[in-house]
Amino acid sequence: MRILLIGSGGREHSLAWKISQSPLLERLWIAPGNPGTAQCGSNVDIAVDDLDGIVDFAKREIISLVVIGPEGPLVAGLADRLAVEGIRVFGPKADAAALEGSKAWSKEVMLRHRVPTGGYRFFRDLNTVNSYLDGGATYPVVVKASGLAAGKGVVICEDVSSARAAAKSMLDDKIYGDAGETILVEEFLDGPEASVFALSDSRTFLCLETCMDHKALEEKGLGPNTGGMGAVCPNPLVGPRTADAIERQVMLPTIHGMNHEGKRFQGVLFAGLKLTPAGPKVLEYNVRFGDPECQVLMMRFQSDLVPYLDACAKGTLEEVEAPEWDPRPAITVILVTDGYPGNYTTGAPIHGLEALDENPDVQVFHAGTAMRGGQLVTAGGRVLAVTALGADIHQARKAAYAAVDAISFEGMRYRKDIGIAALEAVDSIA
Ligand code: GLY
Repeated sequence: MRILLIGSGGREHSLAWKISQSPLLERLWIAPGNPGTAQCGSNVDIAVDDLDGIVDFAKREIISLVVIGPEGPLVAGLADRLAVEGIRVFGPKADAAALEGSKAWSKEVMLRHRVPTGGYRFFRDLNTVNSYLDGGATYPVVVKASGLAAGKGVVICEDVSSARAAAKSMLDDKIYGDAGETILVEEFLDGPEASVFALSDSRTFLCLETCMDHKALEEKGLGPNTGGMGAVCPNPLVGPRTADAIERQVMLPTIHGMNHEGKRFQGVLFAGLKLTPAGPKVLEYNVRFGDPECQVLMMRFQSDLVPYLDACAKGTLEEVEAPEWDPRPAITVILVTDGYPGNYTTGAPIHGLEALDENPDVQVFHAGTAMRGGQLVTAGGRVLAVTALGADIHQARKAAYAAVDAISFEGMRYRKDIGIAALEAVDSIA
């Protein structure tokens, strides 16, 4: 098969790494890719938002399957554009990608199909939201931009003044542009989070292993929210009963409900959940693999990934067997540049990766990296995802952090506690 993968992050490097191992693969292109994906296939210099460029390339190269990594091109309708040309694509069309593109609409979908979630109101006008925040809200509340805000756009507010400030920043100051034209004020849900994924061809679905993300910049969940500073797979807090509840109460009604509404969900549905005392509740849907959850999923996914992606695209998912998983847990530690998730510098030389090439249980997935004059340098906030398998979480942590110790670049920062919450969860269950 001739496969074109769209994206340039750590998620896409892990997908490219896995796809490149497929015996079904004739050739892999990545648009635009990064220096890591260049080791798995051919990078092509087309930006993810250049829909014309991507469609033209896919037609010219007679691509058998396009795999869309990030949410931006999905919400912008890349899958629709490719489908018009008769090109198979893994990822939902725009009407279903709105599950991530419009948080207000996705809440309505949850309500229509009785998917457990927190209470919410949505607003487009500052006076109306202020009246609600002054009188009707129970604190803390979550103030959220409805549109795509690159992993930002969610503020937990302990009191009226911080909630008013968050609402004003989105509705009036437009810090997230159009994404904050509509905002949600949501009930704050207490409990640990879980990231859950289901592959779907719209008629049927297949749940993948669960993950634990680490969104805060600093240890113990402190500091600002990021795209994700590390992940663990599986999530020990999701036992078989919780996994079953998630499958029956979240994935099934969402995927069947979308189908019923004529908005076929095809691709990977990612439910960000809170595990509350009253059961799992959906914080939000995403319509793509998580980053860095994808890195730990790919590390443990032992089957050939390509037939699964292709079956979603073709509508034949019920014909594939459940995949094999490495029984060992995986963790990934994200190395970021000082200043992330705010302003940071780029162009710092990265050292130490050569020494790690030999160990199949450790993979370093590239995210914000670039080649400058033959030297690998930093080119983004999240730079590398250092990913390792281990006999248990403790061993996986040891392997990942040993690899982290071998890597250096100016301004390198990372959390030292990735996997600790999972270890504590294992201990509390035992
Ligand atoms: N790691 C969370 C996300 O990908 O949205």
